[in-house]
Amino acid sequence: MVITTTIAADSNELLHSTFASRYVRTPVPRFKMPERSMPKEAAYQMINDELMLDGNPRLNLASFVTTWMEPECNDLIMTSINKNYVDMDEYPVTTELQNRCVNMIAHLFHAPVGDDETAIGVGTVGSSEAIMLAGLAFKRKWQNKRKAEGKTYDKPNIVTGANVQVCWEKFARYFEVELKEVKLTEGYYVMDPVKAVEMVDENTICVAAILGSTLTGEFEDVKLLNELLTKKNEETGWDTPIHVDAASGGFIAPFVYPDLVWDFRLPLVKSINVSGHKYGLVYAGVGWVIWRTEEDLPEELIFHINYLGSDQPTFTLNFSKGSSQIIAQYYQFLRLGFEGYKRIIENCMDNTRVLKEGLEKTGRFGIVSKDVGVPLVAFSLKDSSKYTVFDMSESLRRFGWIIPTYTMPADAKHIAVLRVVVREDFSRSLAERLSSNIEQVLEEMESLPIRTSTKSATVSGELENAEGKKVDKKTEREIQEEIIQYWRRLVDGKRIGVC
Ligand SMILES: Cc1ncc(COP(=O)(O)O)c(C=O)c1O
Repeated sequence: MVITTTIAADSNELLHSTFASRYVRTPVPRFKMPERSMPKEAAYQMINDELMLDGNPRLNLASFVTTWMEPECNDLIMTSINKNYVDMDEYPVTTELQNRCVNMIAHLFHAPVGDDETAIGVGTVGSSEAIMLAGLAFKRKWQNKRKAEGKTYDKPNIVTGANVQVCWEKFARYFEVELKEVKLTEGYYVMDPVKAVEMVDENTICVAAILGSTLTGEFEDVKLLNELLTKKNEETGWDTPIHVDAASGGFIAPFVYPDLVWDFRLPLVKSINVSGHKYGLVYAGVGWVIWRTEEDLPEELIFHINYLGSDQPTFTLNFSKGSSQIIAQYYQFLRLGFEGYKRIIENCMDNTRVLKEGLEKTGRFGIVSKDVGVPLVAFSLKDSSKYTVFDMSESLRRFGWIIPTYTMPADAKHIAVLRVVVREDFSRSLAERLSSNIEQVLEEMESLPIRTSTKSATVSGELENAEGKKVDKKTEREIQEEIIQYWRRLVDGKRIGVC
């Protein structure tokens, strides 16, 4: 059946049905629900055609989030796609699988859970939700204590490094907690534990340390933080705790740095979050938060519902959510075991090293990431007078690579870096191919007839020349565009498909 509809509207507001014209002849409105239905094949075709313009997830080196899983797990995901996780009474096995995951992660992080005890934790949509929940538990615990002592409890704060991920800023703003950030300095892009402990006061609900900084993958020194904070707590009589944001490092450190002490082995660490969808190796939509003991999660934050069946405790921000990601996480734990995760993470580390060595060989880059940390390479240009990392990122797009470029936070914002996250599906041959594409781009940039840029981008996106003077943005952009066009002509016909 071919459907024809009459749509009199601005053509910008219409979606043309070029490839779906076997089924639909007329465009459909872009922003309004179509008046009439269309055949399922047509809807599929139109959406699929549009999605073709998205980047290839496997070449998206910007993201920590899993882009490949085994077909067996894909099947399990599809089988459970219609189960609402919150219907625990109706889907008791799914609930049981979440509980197994919580316990496995708690043991991996050395939570003090006895053989006949159950770990305290919950599956979330990602680390962001996990961090909100952990933050709320700290805030409520601190408030209860202050109330009991007859003290004020309206100015809670959290001490973090300025390198924290945006979800901490969201937590602070949404839940009215001040974020006291330890400034970064050039060459030191993580929270300095000494400065962090100096910033702690009686209103500090926790110090948040990051295992795997989003910017550089570096692990913060949680052990030293625990030592310094223990001393300060003894001196002041406070009991300021630590939360570890192990969004990406939580599934790295246990497998490749088992002797690194960062988790519940440290007495002040009361909660830890980790993203299942990063190195937990599950597609987007799963995270975890684990508390040290029952006392660290105030009972009044837990809601008990019974209208879906028996009594069900819940502590999440959302009510309904899919079950598939929880099931997929359990699949990975069961399928890979400790041995499998270790092998995969070791591969990622090896591929990171190959890429890093390739970059070092060019002599043009300073490596900002550290060898011990999350498998990623963050690197800056030693000399940005002729072209910048922003130019490089744009040029690498033509090979299919999606590589983010960003400036460091306040106090180090003049440092701009490219970051390549090495995931399980970033193979050795891709690492080698990327190195060689980067070399090619460098050569081409060097041989350009005129300078692409004598400027560097500041965090505000403004352009400055080498002396830091503001320059005309438009002119700069135009020059940039000209160069890119020239350069595209130069390399036309040499395009290499990467898949
Ligand atoms: C250190 C850190 N914390 C939290 C998050 C947020 O994680 P999610 O995307 O799982 O919500 C990220 C994401 O990259 C991160 O790197």
